[in-house]
Amino acid sequence: MKFKTVIKKNNIKNISEIVARLKAGEAIGLPTETVYGLAGRYDNKDTIENIYKIKNRPKSNPLIIHYSNINNALDDIYFDSRALELAKKFWPGPLTLVAKVKNKHICKAAISKMNTIAIRVPSNIIFLNILSKLKIPLAAPSANRYGKISPTSANDVYEELNGKIPVILDGGNSLIGLESTVIDLTEKKTKIIRHGGINKKELTKIIPLYNNKERLKVFISPGLSNSHYKPDTSLRINALKPRKDEAWLAFGPIPKGFKGIAVTLSKKKCLKECAKNLYKMLRYLDKKKCNGIAVQRIPKLGLGIAINDRLRRAAFNDKTNVK
Ligand code: TXA
Ligand code: MG
Repeated sequence: MKFKTVIKKNNIKNISEIVARLKAGEAIGLPTETVYGLAGRYDNKDTIENIYKIKNRPKSNPLIIHYSNINNALDDIYFDSRALELAKKFWPGPLTLVAKVKNKHICKAAISKMNTIAIRVPSNIIFLNILSKLKIPLAAPSANRYGKISPTSANDVYEELNGKIPVILDGGNSLIGLESTVIDLTEKKTKIIRHGGINKKELTKIIPLYNNKERLKVFISPGLSNSHYKPDTSLRINALKPRKDEAWLAFGPIPKGFKGIAVTLSKKKCLKECAKNLYKMLRYLDKKKCNGIAVQRIPKLGLGIAINDRLRRAAFNDKTNVK
């Protein structure tokens, strides 16, 4: 279906309208603290199939289900003390837990007919408000076309999905700018299967983590494709400086007198600021249609692990990078 996509402001009237649309089974672009999501009710087959179609996402890649509170979320899985501890510490927030599914109302297509499910309670006030008014959990993948850069503003969602969805709710720029960290609790060994908004150091204070070096060789998470988060322009990562025909995505100050196209992820080399700016700036530079984008080396510590993970996938297959 072709829509005239509208970006709506966050006010009482629009929230009521969006809750009614979600209830009726529409898929809507909504802000979360990590990235914008393409949200639809978790129990409606047509809605879920529509979400996959809009994103052009393979049906084998399950969605994250979002809940308004910890109790409702944990009610839908077989949980143990690990899930309880992590939920108590990090929810609402950018952590997703994968566990065995219990709830029978969840549309099977939303979890790709698996016997496990990914759940989280987001901390974005607007999203939480909608969830508690709707009283139905929402399946929400990031609101980008499959394999492309995740959106961190309502305008980004518009660029990605214009004409494919009726409404996007404007909640400003995403606070974190990177997707949630996904943790696998289906086996005794607790594993990070996607680095994200909560870093490993914070997690290991609560629970020991299995060092998951084999992550690319074995099946862990269907969505961990090597090529993802891709701009159209080719990306050269871990760069020391830009070449003449490249745009420069700096980490730290841009040298005085620099002549080319350049922006910095963080002048002060702050990883939090860098995460918040990463997708936004990749989108910005992608529009400049340069011959390439060179990204300055970013430390692989704390949030830097998730940032480097996204950059590696975004650069995958680009001929300038050694795999
Ligand atoms: O921050 C986020 O997590 C955002 C916001 C909107 O909440 N959502 C998001 O969804 O990033 P998506 O669909 O782009 O990524 C979900 C990831 C995928 O890599 C998917 O394969 C994985 O979670 N996943 C979902 N269910 C899973 C399961 N049962 N087992 C393993 N991985 C799973
Ligand atoms: Mg995604």
